Amino acid sequence: MSKPMKVTTDSSSMDLSDMRKKYKGDEECFEESQLVSLDPIKQFGNWFDEATKCPEIGEANAMCIATATKDGRPSARMVLLKGYSDEGFRFFTNYESRKGSELESNPYACLVFYWEPLNRQIRIEGAVERIPFQSSCDYFHSRPKSSQIGAVVSRQSTPVPNRDYLRQKNAELEEKYKDTQVPMPDYWGGYIVKPYLIEFWQGQTNRLHDRIVFTKPKDGESELGEFQHAAEGGWVYQRLSP
Ligand SMILES: Cc1cc2nc3c(=O)[nH]c(=O)nc-3n(C[C@H](O)[C@H](O)[C@H](O)COP(=O)(O)O)c2cc1C
Repeated sequence: MSKPMKVTTDSSSMDLSDMRKKYKGDEECFEESQLVSLDPIKQFGNWFDEATKCPEIGEANAMCIATATKDGRPSARMVLLKGYSDEGFRFFTNYESRKGSELESNPYACLVFYWEPLNRQIRIEGAVERIPFQSSCDYFHSRPKSSQIGAVVSRQSTPVPNRDYLRQKNAELEEKYKDTQVPMPDYWGGYIVKPYLIEFWQGQTNRLHDRIVFTKPKDGESELGEFQHAAEGGWVYQRLSP
């Protein structure tokens, strides 16, 4: 159980230094032998399935995605993972949003999943590409009509005068498309994050947390580092100090 949050008398400053919870015992540690696969996408699938089956986790596919401007200023926000494969991790958004414009000028992203009841974190870093138009269209039209209209209403990340403005625009579009299909806006679609790093983190009680990181060596880099091991599909892995 975590201790109650300590509130300082200085109203402008909150001291959270005592907030910490117990993790698992050392006997439950995450050894290399417990990897279900040396293919990190399959290992991701195993942890993801366990997270979706965990009743305390509402949205196992919620992930934080960090992007950065061309000159390296980062920004982060949550999005929903909508698919993954050997190729990478897919999500949908507005191409003209803040994240969209950052990705257009600097096509790299970092994804983080944190499944608190399982004490697990996964970090994924990769190059980002738009998915094919038709795949975005297929997904767009598979969503409830209200969500499709929502995507048309919202020029994501741009200022609006007030909530009523959005409410009214939504009502107008509901009327406009009441008997027809909502066309997918050209500023909306999917991205795929093609990973070159996937790190699995398992929290432990004694702070000797387990970190196993898979990386994809660049073409021509064939030598393994001192603590590196060959994995599957061109990946290598090693353990990192927590
Ligand atoms: C749990 C959760 C899931 C979200 N899923 C998405 C998503 O799949 N796509 C999306 O564009 N925004 C999603 N959002 C909203 C984003 O966090 C963000 O507010 C929005 O994309 C604008 O971000 P930007 O201005 O940095 O581009 C989600 C928010 C939360 C809290």
